[in-house]
Amino acid sequence: MAVKKICFVCLGNICRSPLAEHMFNHVANEMGLGDKYQARSAGTAGWHVGEPPDERMRRVAASRGLVYNGSGRQFTRQDFDNYDLIIAMDSDNKRQLMNLARSDADRSKIRLMREFDPQGGPGQAVPDPYYGGINGFEEVYDIVERSVRGLLEALEKGEV
Ligand code: 4NP
Repeated sequence: MAVKKICFVCLGNICRSPLAEHMFNHVANEMGLGDKYQARSAGTAGWHVGEPPDERMRRVAASRGLVYNGSGRQFTRQDFDNYDLIIAMDSDNKRQLMNLARSDADRSKIRLMREFDPQGGPGQAVPDPYYGGINGFEEVYDIVERSVRGLLEALEKGEV
């Protein structure tokens, strides 16, 4: 069976989407689903291309047991061919992706992260923590963990 490829997308690809990528791969492995799914991440902006993930986000994640690294990259139109599912962290990210999409097939791959958060709802964001305090990063961690678990459940049920 083909591996299902998922790309998480935020603005800078240094705070939210790298966390989502590594959380997803970690939880999928934990559930014995590591061969079925493969996550990566990207940003709609190119400002942090080649940079490691945000130190504050990594510190919060490490304190919860999730250690990761990476290198920022920007989402490109061609990425629509590389992924089955493209998950935006907020409605701005989603709008940018919709603007890049070339076809209905591309557009049908785009979803919002908090559709899968049991405590989220339509249109809700994984808030951008970049200019805020450490509490914002703690909040992002909790939202991303719930959403990733919800997403894996939805994938396993064949709902996405
Ligand atoms: P991210 O956070 O989209 O979750 O990676 C941000 C990172 C950088 C900037 C904004 C948000 N920035 O303005 O440079």
